[in-house]
Amino acid sequence: MTLRHMLRDDDLTHEEQKQVLKLGLAFRENRYLSRPFEGPQSVAVIFDKPSTRTRSSFATGVAELGGYPLVIDKEGSQLGRGEPVADTARVLTRMTSAIVWRTFGQDRVETMARYATVPVVNALTDDFHPCQILADFCTIALHKGGVDSLKGMKIAYLGDAANNMSHSYLLGGAVAGMYVAVAGPQGYLPRTDIVEDAQRIASENGGSITVTTDPIEAAHDADCIFTDTWVSMGEEAEYAKRSKPFIPYQVNDSVMAVAKNDAIFQHCLPAYRGKEVTSSVIDGPQSVVWDEAEFRLHAQKALLTWLIAQQREDESLLAG
Ligand code: CP
Ligand code: NVA
Repeated sequence: MTLRHMLRDDDLTHEEQKQVLKLGLAFRENRYLSRPFEGPQSVAVIFDKPSTRTRSSFATGVAELGGYPLVIDKEGSQLGRGEPVADTARVLTRMTSAIVWRTFGQDRVETMARYATVPVVNALTDDFHPCQILADFCTIALHKGGVDSLKGMKIAYLGDAANNMSHSYLLGGAVAGMYVAVAGPQGYLPRTDIVEDAQRIASENGGSITVTTDPIEAAHDADCIFTDTWVSMGEEAEYAKRSKPFIPYQVNDSVMAVAKNDAIFQHCLPAYRGKEVTSSVIDGPQSVVWDEAEFRLHAQKALLTWLIAQQREDESLLAG
């Protein structure tokens, strides 16, 4: 038995990430390719923060994998009243086949993983959003020539470079062997330890990491441009303070013009038109955001199937 978790993007190696992405594309072709939770076994899907895509894609995905999605909101559980994460892990691990959790601190999913004997999946923390990156890379693969073409591509992320999406593009892109550029204003740049990890992993996989305050330098010649909200969940009190410094990092037609001619645009959503992205871009011909949202379903089914295949040491689950 090999218990694996997905807590941050570098929990998968280059080859493992490719395997999961290829499986994600295969699930898009055949929704019932593999049914590891047939029985049904339950998967806990817990939300300490709001969600539309993650909630609907995990609930639908677990059901399509033959399982029962046990969707739990913070308000409806003892976690919300301060029950220790370790105790929650010990209980859920005896009843469920996997635990998916959207929460605040990364330490919380790490504690859950330490005490669980089933795979734990980070469905977004303050630091990382690895499930989104799998969906985003599947989307690039769909539009740009397959999973094997990801290595050597340039991706650029503009906006709040200190948030979970920025950190996940750095690590996930490094694992994929991409040239990753992130740009944000001074004071909103990525955490140094994450940049260092990304640089080390990128160099192992033939990619590179650029962190800059210059949005045009980041976007130049990119194959895919990403952005995200300037105000993440939990930061709502900073709304007024955050608006102004981010204005030069808006993804608009001028930014798209310096990327490759056939560049695509992605946004994890929810999007705020007129803030981090103009309607001309997100609703324009280079935008693939609806494919991206759909890939949350396929990529997460692939990830859950892959994690269960490792745990059961049953590669046949991956073959369909
Ligand atoms: N992109 C994403 O995670 O969306 P939700 O917050 O709606 O789940
Ligand atoms: N950075 C955003 C992502 C939402 C999917 C947030 O954490 O709110």
